[in-house]
Amino acid sequence: MSVVSTYLKKNRSKHLEELKEILRIPSVSTDPAHKADILEAAKWIEARLGAAGCTRAEIHETGGHPIVYGEWLGAPGAPTILVYGHYDVQPVDPIELWNTGPFEPTERAGKLYARGAADDKGQVLIHVNALEAHLQSNGTCPVNVKFLIEGEEEIGSEHLAPFIKKNRKLLACDAVVVSDTSMFDKKTPSLCTGLRGLCYLQIELTGTKRDLHSGCFGGAVVNPANAMADLISALKGKNGKIKVPGFYDDVVKLTRAERNSLASLPHSDEKYRREIGAPALFGEKGYTTLERVGARPSLDVNGIWSGFTGEGAKTVIPAVAHAKISMRLVPNQSPSKIARLVTDHIKAIAPESVKVKVKNLHGGDAWMASLDHPAIRAAGRAVERAFGKAPVFNREGGSIPIVATFSRVLAAPCILMGIGLPDDALHAPNEKIDLSQFYKGRDAAAYLMEEIARG
Ligand code: BES
Ligand code: ZN
Repeated sequence: MSVVSTYLKKNRSKHLEELKEILRIPSVSTDPAHKADILEAAKWIEARLGAAGCTRAEIHETGGHPIVYGEWLGAPGAPTILVYGHYDVQPVDPIELWNTGPFEPTERAGKLYARGAADDKGQVLIHVNALEAHLQSNGTCPVNVKFLIEGEEEIGSEHLAPFIKKNRKLLACDAVVVSDTSMFDKKTPSLCTGLRGLCYLQIELTGTKRDLHSGCFGGAVVNPANAMADLISALKGKNGKIKVPGFYDDVVKLTRAERNSLASLPHSDEKYRREIGAPALFGEKGYTTLERVGARPSLDVNGIWSGFTGEGAKTVIPAVAHAKISMRLVPNQSPSKIARLVTDHIKAIAPESVKVKVKNLHGGDAWMASLDHPAIRAAGRAVERAFGKAPVFNREGGSIPIVATFSRVLAAPCILMGIGLPDDALHAPNEKIDLSQFYKGRDAAAYLMEEIARG
């Protein structure tokens, strides 16, 4: 065992306690009521980067939530990695479904439960812990390390892209490293080779100037909630195909090789169905589940509300109906073009009797890795050393919008070495991180530094 892995083993409880500290800060980025918590989380990260051995750690104000930058550049001539992650988290509701408080990190059966445990605070800290382990046990690190930890990932990273463009020199690196995805499963380590993009819209349909008595007026007007239901069901066919004209025009088709590679993964539809508790799976006809999630676009309602939703009955025709819909996109779909196509289509098919407003909330590009890069091979060796098995490659359905920006602006390969698990309950009640994943993840991050240095 190397001195670095010995250090990491010895410091398990120290690193776990530190993770719990940051998990206690409710840094929910979408909610202005948590502004002070966001700042506290940013300061915590800044301080931790310094304590881990970064010779520079600072907060950058951009008008949005603060960006934390840190660096240790004590290995001149060696490669430089840029570790990206986020300290912001998703809202906690429905809060009543949490077994313990979302910001009271609690261990149960080898897992640590808290909002942000896997997405993404636990995964950020594996790299901070890895740098600390190298510096503490060897007095040096085999690569130069930069950190870029933001507070707006969960709301679309609006201020980060301009920051990256303005700070190309500061962020220059040989590889970007991101741990904000999941492994294929606990027994199957993986590297993520593709992410979907996103287009997120909010629709508002207004029927009348006020709510109406459903007896006095029912039958004489279009109910916007009914109209919303019609509209939404018109967006997707029974075969799972999205019915917006032009929607698939730019979609890069799956190659035979990619289909074979996805088909070779140890996936079982039945296991997958049972794990999420669905009576049956459903998706676009002609594609497998892994293809549907990783390589084909999708369209879903994220929220829908109108009229009376309290206890009991109230007879009313609501004046307004709302829905939030998101489209997950694949290479080469453009989020702004898709927003335009879908908005135009919604306006074209909505009945005359409602006023339609569509707001574009945020979006991001899909991304795909080039598999034959030496940095990806280095990551493969690091994962194999930490998890005892060579990783498989998989495409994930989630989005990390800034990854495409990194590839474009910094012209560096991105390594997506996530150590989460598919049942971590991201964005849901009882989010957790598996502690054995956290501990092995620190090893993988430390080995990655060695393997990247090796070339
Ligand atoms: N960590 C996730 C993305 C993810 C999760 C990718 C699992 C692959 C596997 C990230 O924090 C996230 O949730 N991103 C948002 C981005 C959006 C708000 C712009 C997403 O995908 O919904
Ligand atoms: Zn997330």
